[in-house]
Amino acid sequence: MAREQWGTKLGFMLAAMGSAVGLGNIWRFSFVAGNNGGGAFLLLYLGCVFLIGIPLLLTEVSIGRKAKSDVVGSYQKLAPKTPWFFTGFFGIFSAFLILSFYAVVAGWSLYYFFHYITGDFFQAPGEGGFGAVFGGFISQGWQPLFWTALFMAMVIFIVVSGVKRGIETANKIFMPLLALLLIVLAVFSLSLDGAMEGLKFLFQPDWSAFSKPSIYVQALGELFSLSLGMGALLTYGSYLSDDKKLPGAAIGIGLMDTFFAVISGLVIFPAVFAFSIDPSSGPPLVFITLPTIFEQMPLGGIVGLIFFFALSLAALSSAISILEVPTAYFMRLFNWTRKKSSITVGSIMFFLGIFVSLGFGVWSGVTPIGDRNILDSMDYIASNILLPLGGLSMALFVGWYFRKSTALKAVDLKDDLFGGVWYGIVKFIVPVVILIIFVSSL
Ligand code: PHE
Repeated sequence: MAREQWGTKLGFMLAAMGSAVGLGNIWRFSFVAGNNGGGAFLLLYLGCVFLIGIPLLLTEVSIGRKAKSDVVGSYQKLAPKTPWFFTGFFGIFSAFLILSFYAVVAGWSLYYFFHYITGDFFQAPGEGGFGAVFGGFISQGWQPLFWTALFMAMVIFIVVSGVKRGIETANKIFMPLLALLLIVLAVFSLSLDGAMEGLKFLFQPDWSAFSKPSIYVQALGELFSLSLGMGALLTYGSYLSDDKKLPGAAIGIGLMDTFFAVISGLVIFPAVFAFSIDPSSGPPLVFITLPTIFEQMPLGGIVGLIFFFALSLAALSSAISILEVPTAYFMRLFNWTRKKSSITVGSIMFFLGIFVSLGFGVWSGVTPIGDRNILDSMDYIASNILLPLGGLSMALFVGWYFRKSTALKAVDLKDDLFGGVWYGIVKFIVPVVILIIFVSSL
């Protein structure tokens, strides 16, 4: 059977953006930016996107497009009888870890979305506000698992429908819709009295931040939110035909990911500061702080509805790309159909998700790594160890295993200034930089 392909290059780009733009962009990026020098951080991050993110993105996609195979198969094909294919196993392993907790959090988002549809969450039901609502919900046994299962079922449904009919079609709808929803919310948030404070938090440059080493590590660490290192973009790249040129696509994907992160900041921080609330990040920000603000805001019920719809869309489009990594691998390895492979993989991930979910309830005392609960431990292994190793290995593979002419041809660059700069970055700078982030995060 012929390998599946994207219908259009735009379809591929939207799918790759869908992968990159996820929970991380919405609840982490703008908070990290605000706390690390605002506008100064944004400039530094943009520099990192151009200097490291886009070159590495180009590298990852090119491996898949050249080999036309999954994360493991690509290395076996391009470098037979060498251990490079272990890079693929880092990816498969991180896909299992990441999606099993991503689906739990996405399930929470669906739960909130549902309760905004019914209107139940226009005001926090019961005593204790949304802190109590959220704490009470995630610590239950079955309820959160129902929403996680529902989310996984949607992810599996899209992946089962195929690369073009499922993944591409879904992202062609989701990404423009997500952009529209976030822009509407940002305009509304900016119109609130006191929104200026939020803009200052996000954008006012504090140049002195450049003297702190932590800002560089934070900016570099954010790069992995481009979905690099797992093989999601490699796998997506494997469905591209050779006549679709890569450099422009990589720049577009990198820039759009940053755009979505900044727009999310424009949704969240003007509102947070308009209501004089201390910003935080992560789950407490979206599941406690924001609903508390929405309940005091004019039209807040509608804003909440749109926000949790957008959050669920962003999570869904990323989750699809994560499920596709092991799905493609098992399809080839066992000669399974797409349906059998994605249902099997998705079910295993859901099963792992049960542990994650119970980690907020009956197993809240279980802390596998340091004082981290089950979700944070899995996130730690995947984001701090496996993804950096995956990204490092991809850069070394293209920079050192390929000849220069092969590497340049793989990414559609010539041996000119651009090509030379890209090659130097992938060969020398990316490995050094990843090692720095890696060591400093351990
Ligand atoms: N980039 C996604 C986010 O920011 C998560 C993700 C990580 C997706 C790795 C695919 C691979 O939420």
